[in-house]
Amino acid sequence: MELLRPAPEHLASFTDALQRGWSPDTMRPAAAQETLERVQADPEGFLRLTEDPQGLGPPFALPDGALVPRLPGIVRWMWDAEGFAGSINLRWPRDLGPLPPHVLGHVGYTVVPWKRQRGYATRALALLLPLARAQGLDCVEITTDAANLASQGVITANGGVLVGRFDKPAVYGGAPSLRFRIELGA
Ligand SMILES: CC(C)(COP(=O)(O)OP(=O)(O)OC[C@H]1O[C@@H](n2cnc3c(N)ncnc32)[C@H](O)[C@@H]1OP(=O)(O)O)[C@@H](O)C(=O)NCCC(=O)NCCS
Repeated sequence: MELLRPAPEHLASFTDALQRGWSPDTMRPAAAQETLERVQADPEGFLRLTEDPQGLGPPFALPDGALVPRLPGIVRWMWDAEGFAGSINLRWPRDLGPLPPHVLGHVGYTVVPWKRQRGYATRALALLLPLARAQGLDCVEITTDAANLASQGVITANGGVLVGRFDKPAVYGGAPSLRFRIELGA
């Protein structure tokens, strides 16, 4: 499995995963159909948003529809011999300072259900961390539901240290959650 920057030639495998029932938003199965429609309506615009290190994209819609300024960010796709296997993204504040409260960590990831427990997410995070360093971050924070043992395994395998417990903001469902930090070194 490798990480690649999404490009037009990868879209067919990506949309295939959406049609097979994978949703990029675990909390919202409807996000699969919405993403499919966005890709079909404007593939170039969709791809442009996956590489936005200046945060030039449009405001970001929270699950309740509220619009917040978009942070700079990049998306990489997990890719294996069969094609699309998952997605991982990195976002960061322009001034590299603390994240706004509605942004739950610098990194988010998801693996298609039929390719889980193969080590893909663990490897994807390992491959992403140098990209975070290259953007000037000296550490990344990652948050996960306290019940999400798989995600905690991904983080701790990459040197994550538990730094806090909190309840997610109501807009994200309010679940008890954990905050980890991974130091990126010099
Ligand atoms: C969390 C997720 C990304 C893990 O992806 P994955 O590729 O299956 O993870 P890995 O194969 O790298 O496994 C990571 C660790 O979790 C463990 N694990 C995997 N699935 C597990 C499960 N269902 N229950 C408990 N542990 C699990 C693995 O054994 C591994 O632990 P180890 O390093 O001690 O062996 C995947 O389950 C997923 O996409 N979930 C939905 C989206 C999500 O929760 N994203 C994270 C939000 S913070």
